[in-house]
Amino acid sequence: NIEEKVTQLMSQMTLDEKIGQTVMYASEMDVTGPVLDANYLEYIKKGEVGAVLNASGVSYVRKIQKLAVENSRLGIPLLFGFDVIHGYKTIFPIPLAESCSWDLDLMEQTAQIAARESSAAGLHWTFAPMVDISRDARWGRIAEGAGEDVYLGSLIAKARVRGFQGNLESTNNILACAKHFAGYGAAQAGRDYHTVDMSDIELRNTHLPPFKAALNEGVATFMTAFNELNGVPATGNKYLLDTILRKEWNFKGFVVTDYTSITEMIAHGFAENLKHAGEIAINAGSDMDMQSGAYKNHLKEYLNEKKLDKERLNEAVKSILRMKFKLGLFDDPYRFCDEEKEKQFILSKEHLKKATETAKKSIVLLKNKNKVLPLKNTSKIALIGPLADDTHHILGTWAAFGRENKNIISIKEELENKNIDFKYTKGCDILEENREDFKNAIAIAKKSDVVVMVMGETENMSGEAACRTNIKLPGLQQELIAEIKKTGKPIILVLMNGRPLDLSWEDKTVNAILETWFLGTNCAAAITEVLFGTYNPSGKLTVTFPRNVGQIPLFYNQKNTGRPTNVPNADPRYTSKYLDVANSPLYPFGYGLSYTEFTYSKVTLDANTLFFNTSIKASVTITNTGNYDGEEIVQLYIKDVVGSITRPIKELKGFKKITLKKGESKTVQFEITAELLKFYNQKQDFVCEEGEFKLFIAGSSNHKFTNTFFLK
Ligand code: IFM
Repeated sequence: NIEEKVTQLMSQMTLDEKIGQTVMYASEMDVTGPVLDANYLEYIKKGEVGAVLNASGVSYVRKIQKLAVENSRLGIPLLFGFDVIHGYKTIFPIPLAESCSWDLDLMEQTAQIAARESSAAGLHWTFAPMVDISRDARWGRIAEGAGEDVYLGSLIAKARVRGFQGNLESTNNILACAKHFAGYGAAQAGRDYHTVDMSDIELRNTHLPPFKAALNEGVATFMTAFNELNGVPATGNKYLLDTILRKEWNFKGFVVTDYTSITEMIAHGFAENLKHAGEIAINAGSDMDMQSGAYKNHLKEYLNEKKLDKERLNEAVKSILRMKFKLGLFDDPYRFCDEEKEKQFILSKEHLKKATETAKKSIVLLKNKNKVLPLKNTSKIALIGPLADDTHHILGTWAAFGRENKNIISIKEELENKNIDFKYTKGCDILEENREDFKNAIAIAKKSDVVVMVMGETENMSGEAACRTNIKLPGLQQELIAEIKKTGKPIILVLMNGRPLDLSWEDKTVNAILETWFLGTNCAAAITEVLFGTYNPSGKLTVTFPRNVGQIPLFYNQKNTGRPTNVPNADPRYTSKYLDVANSPLYPFGYGLSYTEFTYSKVTLDANTLFFNTSIKASVTITNTGNYDGEEIVQLYIKDVVGSITRPIKELKGFKKITLKKGESKTVQFEITAELLKFYNQKQDFVCEEGEFKLFIAGSSNHKFTNTFFLK
């Protein structure tokens, strides 16, 4: 029994040893923030460290673990954590991309593979999934999440936690971490680490549900956020960490701070100095101090000065030890250190195959005028663009050890390997303003039937501290497209980027747009399959693409306002709108094209009244009326017409991904229950309210309501 073992161990521990468990330091192998404490190995030997971040590889982990186990008095093993966000060495699409597959099983499997590879490299813990909802394309970390939607984001959070953690009995699973608690994705003006000020209703209805979902799936740890929330930094926010997480949600795992977020409370103007900051953090509910040194250096003083109850410290230590027991580290501290497994698992054939499959399913076809795609094998192709021969950026942000893999190939190399006839030139860089290669690009375009332009952002233009106020294609890329356009050749724009971009100009200019995000290790194979139609694209956006940056935040489930634009006879001057751009997005949430077409029948409901303890079924038949077999993501949206608080204009409440051969039809059913209609009201109760509801089922969020039902 783990509880007994924890209590037994606690009874043997000195105060210094207890404090040691709450301390985490980065190894010198890598830092993911600004600080490194060079003495961390000495602390480890004395039992003054509980966990290490950014150390991996069996031999390295073993070496450090040995220091703890063989030198410290009680030999308590260390926990090794790392940012395994979308793969360890086999890199899957960035999480935002992967979410566009809407394939929960697939996302569970890729998380499982990421866990298998990292556990084979000695790791016990990943700082993932990031479950922050974000509706701001300027924010660089939008790349790491599952998009803008609460319902989908919550299901993805669960799938990823299941994948990483499994039942934690196997050494192929690792602890997961729901981060960043909370509100991190709502930073003002999309600037990383910036202030967050939001109502409790917004917090509970939009930002907390994916965390709650992760918790319900048994997530072992939570990470605090760098931002303040309503005037209180998240790391010192008792309302978040204690009232909600521990008391309301009954969380039994442990909370780690985000990097030096304890220290950062000084800059926030919330703590006078590091000692004060640490006192706030531990009392609020942060159990483990990543990197700030506050707990290591000051925790004892808080106890002596009666600023901290020793029971609070005991709780923190117990929650950490519990996880170490769960992982079996007390039976064998080197349980995850197996050189054979490391060789066998990492970059295995099976993992690489899954990387291609996931990459294909994450691609979203945004435009395909005159069905210019898929390409014909007989076409003369010009391949142009700064990312056409790239193997670095394609892995995206937080690519762990992905770049150590020397077998990654570019799109250009993939086409060569496939003996496809094409001419290539780079044309321009992403950031450098150099037009020297423009003439070569124009020359090869002129001699071609079709031009494939692979463009986008650098990998470090999204991710942490990588925010942009201009979300257009950077550098000279648009200018090069404009020059190629003059040749009159059809242009296929293959995009690689970590956020929604402003593609208004491209949408008017090019013939086809493939949003490929950053697809990871097997990006080239996946894109080539989609370009040539051996795979029919099926991804749908999980985040809205605005017409321009000024529309942000723009998301499909906004509120209606008192002066919406769509009211008959309204004076258009006084409606809620812009003078210079439509309210609608360029590409809505849930949108994505296929090489085939799907037609939807009328939606039927088996009843028009829903009672609190019953359900109704909504059915629709989808037919593949085009010329290719394909997959469709069928989406159910519901609107709560009148509420005790204003309700969103629509909300995703169900989806199913189906495969249809050409000519084939399938009927899809959704079960609607009262539970599905719940939200947090003004009293912070989770309720559903009687009244009228509208719904539609479609292949995108941009659709009119077709049916009505009543909750009684
Ligand atoms: O896990 C990350 C977090 O998301 C951002 N700051 C650094 C942490 C550890 O690398």
